Amino acid sequence: MSYLFDNAADQTPDRFSVLEARYDSFSKEQLNLTGLDPGWRCLEVGGGGGSLGNWLGERVAPGGEVTVTDIEPRWAKTRPRPANVRLVRHDITRDPAPGDGYDLVHARLVLLHLPERLRVLDRLVRMLRPGGWLVLEEFDCGWTPVLATPDEGATALFERVHAALMGLLEQAGAEPLWGRRVLGTMMRAGLHEVTAATYAEAWQGGGEGIGLHRANVGQVAARLRESGFGEHDLKRFSALLDDPAFVVNSYPMISTRGRRPRQEAGR
Ligand SMILES: C[S@@+](CC[C@H](N)C(=O)[O-])C[C@H]1O[C@@H](n2cnc3c(N)ncnc32)[C@H](O)[C@@H]1O
Repeated sequence: MSYLFDNAADQTPDRFSVLEARYDSFSKEQLNLTGLDPGWRCLEVGGGGGSLGNWLGERVAPGGEVTVTDIEPRWAKTRPRPANVRLVRHDITRDPAPGDGYDLVHARLVLLHLPERLRVLDRLVRMLRPGGWLVLEEFDCGWTPVLATPDEGATALFERVHAALMGLLEQAGAEPLWGRRVLGTMMRAGLHEVTAATYAEAWQGGGEGIGLHRANVGQVAARLRESGFGEHDLKRFSALLDDPAFVVNSYPMISTRGRRPRQEAGR
């Protein structure tokens, strides 16, 4: 099993720019709620395009530092970084920890894709200092209602293509409903002060957000053809994403945070 949206693909920068444009302000708001302060040491796992890693670097200066990891750091590399932000090629499922004693560990839309997500979550907890924050931000891909449609056939087509995309994600070991499972998993991992907030918005055809569906479906078009979608369906789907009469709810992003206990049982 491997990451479905291989980051060497042409669609990658489009995916990262939608995520940055549509979700970074929510993520920043949520990260600020941890009390993020100058001097903090942070780990940004699977940093993608690097926008949040850079922002964390600015927020923790002076005195703080940020390590941004990714299995494919080539996209973050193209963007200038503050001096206190280190970018490393790193696989969170198997490479030695890039550090420990972090004040904050953040990952957005990474564990959803990893079959080993529970083990990785435990690893991330162990990389925190006592009292440090883990912030995991994940989609719940199970709630994407169509909010306006040019015709019912368009809604059915969207739902059919979307369901097939979710099936491919699952085959690759992803968990499309992971967002709704994070809070309970963090509680079971022994974190304290666990809480969550969710952000969603309307994505209209031709707009910026809906470009995420274009990037995702474009990247797996060959697989969709293999699973029975014809050229006509895929062209209609693409035209729908440009049609302002079509509006779909964005993926809800559930931002969950919790703290490593200051004193752990048995210590
Ligand atoms: C959907 S993108 C999200 C990027 C970024 N976190 C954001 O929200 O904009 C998932 C990112 O996780 C990275 N990734 C996937 N598997 C990984 C692994 N095992 N270790 C570290 N990064 C990984 C991918 O390369 C990609 O950059």
